[in-house]
Amino acid sequence: MPGTSDSHESKGTAHDHAPASTNGPGGAGRRPRRPLIIILAAVAAVVVILGLALGLGLGLGLRHSKSSAAADSNPSGNTTTKLQNATTPKSVDAILSMDIVNDPPTTRTYDFVVEERMGTPDGVQKRMLVVNGQYPGPTIEANTGDRIVVNVTNKMPNSTTIHWHGLYQRGTNYYDGSMAITQCGIPSGESMVYNFTFDGYVGSTWWHSHAGTQYTDGITGALIVHAKNESVPTYDGDLALQLADLYHGFSPELLNLYFTPGGIDGTPGNEPVPDGGTINGVGQYGSSNTSFFNVTLEPNKTYRLRLINTGSFVGMQFSVDNHTLEVIEADGTAVEPFAVSSLSIAVAQRYSVLLRTNQTAGAYWFRSALDQDAFTYDNPGVQTEIRGIIRYGVDNDTVPDVALLDNPPSLPDGAPGDLDTTDLVPAGGGPAPNSTFSVYFTISMQYASGPNYLSRFLSFINSTSWEPLQKTSSLFSHLGNNTADGSATLADSQLVTTIDEVHVVDMIIDNLDDGDHPFHLHGQKFWIMQSGAGRYQGGAVDNRHPMQRDTLVIPAYTHVILRFVADNPGFWPFHCHIQWHMAAGLLFQLNVLPSESAKFDIPQYMIDQCQRE
Ligand code: C2O
Repeated sequence: MPGTSDSHESKGTAHDHAPASTNGPGGAGRRPRRPLIIILAAVAAVVVILGLALGLGLGLGLRHSKSSAAADSNPSGNTTTKLQNATTPKSVDAILSMDIVNDPPTTRTYDFVVEERMGTPDGVQKRMLVVNGQYPGPTIEANTGDRIVVNVTNKMPNSTTIHWHGLYQRGTNYYDGSMAITQCGIPSGESMVYNFTFDGYVGSTWWHSHAGTQYTDGITGALIVHAKNESVPTYDGDLALQLADLYHGFSPELLNLYFTPGGIDGTPGNEPVPDGGTINGVGQYGSSNTSFFNVTLEPNKTYRLRLINTGSFVGMQFSVDNHTLEVIEADGTAVEPFAVSSLSIAVAQRYSVLLRTNQTAGAYWFRSALDQDAFTYDNPGVQTEIRGIIRYGVDNDTVPDVALLDNPPSLPDGAPGDLDTTDLVPAGGGPAPNSTFSVYFTISMQYASGPNYLSRFLSFINSTSWEPLQKTSSLFSHLGNNTADGSATLADSQLVTTIDEVHVVDMIIDNLDDGDHPFHLHGQKFWIMQSGAGRYQGGAVDNRHPMQRDTLVIPAYTHVILRFVADNPGFWPFHCHIQWHMAAGLLFQLNVLPSESAKFDIPQYMIDQCQRE
């Protein structure tokens, strides 16, 4: 497979020989991380040493978990031929059902088989982890009130889980799918059934593995919850577009490079830079860009495009040549329709936009561009913009002018600009309830020094860097159920905020790091009560119609106040969705109403699986 080993080797080289400088001509916007020397480093080193001594180390631990059938660092090696090829769904599979909303309440059953495959999403062969042999995995579509039953069988060598991003899981926290928090992993060769109802979340979302960095390798899929009472304008057609960054390397190996004492390119903390991206599993890379995601629509109609960033690191900038878009939903919150020319979707965020097929009949490029501000070094050959095709009023095989690929036409004067998320107003939104409890957090990333092989960049919330518990979960072990309300660090690496009566909670968060972090709260949405530059300094909140969502970018050196009602029992992680940062510990847990969650009727086999994790 030409190209495969090249791009892979270039990473290996950067790792093996400390490069003088990887500043390349295309490095505009790169923001080298400046490691901070702080007292926490010493504390962190102790945590790391303890963690590794106990076999909890993420980086080193994962190195041992390669299966014998697994590909080696050279993806074209013979061992890889044992893996079957992953398939790509057809472009038309993006089209969702418009009638499903009229179905009577029902139970929808799915079988998910998770396994390793070789795939070529952008023309370059790579090792993948996929559901039912395909990337992305099956789309789940249902109505609010429906029950879904998903039987997940793990045919991979490592444990796995499936998380249902954004769902509330009221009363079924143990089906949230957060490894080491709400369950233990599904052991290799075993199955687990997720069985829950859609209990309030309406709109666009996705499911993904929540074990290590597995979803980076392909365990993702769209999840659409329809409802008759959704407060969005009407439309004639509905499509799910999963936009993601893409790595040619295998994520456990990339994670090892990220954790290398010297850093992946000589600077500790520099995240692996993606090689490209995909739109519903189809991307382009260099001259291999012969296939495009493409759909034929009808002229003079209105389509809802559900844009889901299922990637691992960078935001994706979405636009359609010659068309403006109207934002109508963000993370399941209907918003007052807002016209834009383009919008940036952070990792794990979702937006619905309306696209009107009211221009000259023809074929048009649409674009999903990687946010290069987050790139910390030059990755030669990176495909920074992924293209797809929409067409209407022309034949099914019409292709847009290739001369436009690198020269997008500009919109007429007076066209709207890029989305500014502070302009989003929830449709029919009102004030949030007044807060009755507040907790304070700081976010930082530090180089945790120690003996050479243990030194690595770690993430901290307050002074705790998360590492997954082993052979148990926070929920199963009732972690912190007997501590007082408020935050405490348990088992060295678990920052747990306990709230054992129904409170309206303000989370006040200072991002002291020089990077932007897309944070996600499980189990509920939060109201964004305040956001601004610098540390939190007090001051009034604007509570007229705060936006409510479940994933928010907290930019470098800024603060936010996020408010939620703590009435949904269970352990709910709050974490940076950048997979490298979460693996480095950027996660804390809310332990909501532990006296309620202690009464959960958790299937015994799930608890037994901990022993075989
Ligand atoms: Cu999309 Cu904690 O997950």
